[in-house]
Amino acid sequence: MCGIVGIVGKGAATPLLVDGLKRLEYRGYDSAGVATLVKGKIERRRASGRIAALEERVNAEPLGGRTGIAHTRWATHGAPVENNAHPHATDKVAIVHNGIIENFAELKAELAAKGRVFASETDSEVIAHLLTVLIDEGMAPEAAFGAALKRLHGAFAVAAIVAGHEDLLLAARRGSPLAIGYGDGEMFVGSDALALAPLTRKISYLDDGDWVVVTGSTVTIHDHNDIQVTRAIKETALSGALIGKGNFQHFMQKEIFEQPAVIGDTLRVYVNPATRAVALPDLPVDLKTLNRIQLVACGTSYYAGLVGHYWIERLARLPVDVDIASEFRYRDPILEKGGLSMFVSQSGETIDTLSALRHAKAQGQKIAAIVNVPESSMAREADVVLPTHAGPEIGVASTKAFTTQLSVLASFAFAAAKARGTMSAAALNELAGAIYEIPEKVSAVLAMDEAIRAAAEIVAPARDVLYLGRGTSYPIAMEGALKLKEISYIHAEGYPAGEMKHGPIALIASDVPVIVLAPSDEWFEKTASNIQETKARGGQVILIADAKGIAKAGSLATATIEIPESHPFVTPILYSIPVQLLAYYVAIRKGTDVDKPRNLAKSVTVE
Ligand code: F6R
Repeated sequence: MCGIVGIVGKGAATPLLVDGLKRLEYRGYDSAGVATLVKGKIERRRASGRIAALEERVNAEPLGGRTGIAHTRWATHGAPVENNAHPHATDKVAIVHNGIIENFAELKAELAAKGRVFASETDSEVIAHLLTVLIDEGMAPEAAFGAALKRLHGAFAVAAIVAGHEDLLLAARRGSPLAIGYGDGEMFVGSDALALAPLTRKISYLDDGDWVVVTGSTVTIHDHNDIQVTRAIKETALSGALIGKGNFQHFMQKEIFEQPAVIGDTLRVYVNPATRAVALPDLPVDLKTLNRIQLVACGTSYYAGLVGHYWIERLARLPVDVDIASEFRYRDPILEKGGLSMFVSQSGETIDTLSALRHAKAQGQKIAAIVNVPESSMAREADVVLPTHAGPEIGVASTKAFTTQLSVLASFAFAAAKARGTMSAAALNELAGAIYEIPEKVSAVLAMDEAIRAAAEIVAPARDVLYLGRGTSYPIAMEGALKLKEISYIHAEGYPAGEMKHGPIALIASDVPVIVLAPSDEWFEKTASNIQETKARGGQVILIADAKGIAKAGSLATATIEIPESHPFVTPILYSIPVQLLAYYVAIRKGTDVDKPRNLAKSVTVE
């Protein structure tokens, strides 16, 4: 969702700003813009659509200056047209903004009454006018910025430059993340460390409520009470290489094929390769006596939570509730003081999940965060972090983050079972062996690439697709449907296979492919009956199963994708791979923008 870059530099700012925007493209956007100070005056270029369109504008009308701000906008208030693109500017200030100003209507009316004329339909533009009025009233830019922030309600990040002040950049964080990059005689701000990766490795993250005055040689941070504070400067391990596509055509493809490595990296943190013992970081609760776990997440991360639900209850006999984050707070859940709430998120910034985390904390819950970005808000606000080690995920459709989340949840379920004594030593040992073999088995699934590409030919012409699964394959069916919807724009539904006869069976027709996930587990025979029911009604089945399952039910399918046989516990991780690749190849076939599907944002920072 919207991306911000700012520079108080030594040389030409525009090429660096545009480059920074390119590294924020993955967050999702539909217009872009840049503003700099040229001989003390604000100048800007904006364009709707892709950054390439902005580059064309800048090439046609070059933009000088060493200090500037830039933005990718994901439309909320007003269509993605040039007028609504950021930066928003007056003759005195230019601003870029990520998030929502909830009281913008009231501020707009107040500012209009003072004679300010608005040029856009956005909520953001009020910030530019508010700052201008305060500066016109005689305030210094820094004081005006601090005062303006106090008038703004909502969750946001903002950066501003001021006419006549070439060595000044003002920025603030309230809700949406913002990082400061420290250079040598130049300073940067960015929505995340990825944006700043080639510019500097020295990064500090603003705390919520912080605002900052940046010059080429100084960074002065204030907290929400305007008290000057320091925030640790860290060396980031991110480099340009980590965020390149390598030899792959798309980030999503690269990230799918990275899974054996990153699942291995993640599991190694929790499962000792020598002893196969599973160890978690120190938890703020005692797993032995814990009564219940609350899991909360959005989208793909929510489906990981649903698999965790099966695993934790089955193995550790520990009751689990799973909620979609955007619904969680509003159903006013009963949360026992001292209980454990776990939040699952790739970005660690999804505002629905972050707000749910804060709600649970306020109810006295202990907080665990399963996150991929170690410096994220969720990681910082949790009592304990269970990190995934997926590395930066750039493709908007989540893949490696999902399977590493599953790896953490599998380790957690295992550790909980051990702590609670709910499994025999022999069963635990067998399970540890199965977990240990996951990366190798994932590699074997990736080798089925060609069969999956062939199955994509059946799916690509469809308007509607059904995904069916039972047990832990049910959340993977939903995840498969979500992946297909996101990147190929084909309508898809994931259903528990047994639920089909309660309604969705009416949809079965020869042009509605039915993708059945049927590992050889305790539910296989029942799922096989559902394949029969589908076939009897003229449906085309794509069966994803192991050799045993294909031998039993493959003759009923139009296509089969063979997955290595494995312990039923680990099948959700293995069966995630074919549904990711299937969606990928269908999208390629349809020619969609795989890494940046329409309307989607990587990190959803508005409610
Ligand atoms: C789907 C996808 C989204 C995210 C969701 C939560 O491919 O990427 O559904 O899973 O927006 O994002 P995080 O995990 O960053 O909280």
